[in-house]
Amino acid sequence: MALGVQSKKPENIAIIMDGNGRWAKSHSFEITKGHKRGVEVVREIVEECVSQHINSLTLFAFSTENWTRPKTEISGIKNLIIEAIHEQLPELVEKKVKLSFFGNYSKFGSNIKEKILDAEKKTSKYKEDLRLNIALSYGGRSDIVESCKQITSSIISGSMEESDINEESILEFSQCPENNIDLLIRTGGDHRISNFLLYQVAYAEIIFLDKLWPDFTKLDLQDCIKQFSKVERRFGQRL
Ligand code: IPE
Ligand code: IPE
Ligand code: MG
Repeated sequence: MALGVQSKKPENIAIIMDGNGRWAKSHSFEITKGHKRGVEVVREIVEECVSQHINSLTLFAFSTENWTRPKTEISGIKNLIIEAIHEQLPELVEKKVKLSFFGNYSKFGSNIKEKILDAEKKTSKYKEDLRLNIALSYGGRSDIVESCKQITSSIISGSMEESDINEESILEFSQCPENNIDLLIRTGGDHRISNFLLYQVAYAEIIFLDKLWPDFTKLDLQDCIKQFSKVERRFGQRL
């Protein structure tokens, strides 16, 4: 959606899915069980986005900063992602969802990379229904730095001129497939972006919820969409 155009329903939604650890702790479960429940919620939310005809859903699954977590938690998350791709791919194909991963996810190893590329290939022809983008080993600041480096190389190689640099060219080089996020939701009670999509959320409406991600339901998403539809988006204009 171009900035300045009023839309009742968010076309592009992003979610910072926070609270898996606290959810597991509150149920005296191992941390991986919290992440597992989190993956199940993703399935329900994707289904809801398909039925609401949302254009894109961009999910923060693992940040560059999350690499500082214990090795056992990280390998648990890696296994869950592999499992989720395996289990949920047939449903995504059936629902014509285009799946993309972005971020420096190669750091998780060649096994996961192969599975991601295969899943992306199997859903790449679906462009009109939901685009499901998963940020994996992603950091908003490093995304902007990498875009700047690529622009510099393009200028040095002669394929781009300094006058070609504008707001759109930074987006073209960004790892994130979406240009503008209309609605950003963060669960888990904290009011911060935690280095997610810094450039793309410039004019996003932001909803912070106390609910932990494993407790988030399609009714919560419906509520957020309803809240969004009541907001007057001014984009700096005097209306
Ligand atoms: C979000 O849940 C998932 C990831 C960051 C991978 P957390 O694991 O951060 O859950 P809390 O914030 O510790 O409860
Ligand atoms: C944000 O949650 C990252 C993801 C949801 C993947 P964190 O739990 O890592 O963020 P902080 O540490 O509370 O800022
Ligand atoms: Mg957290």
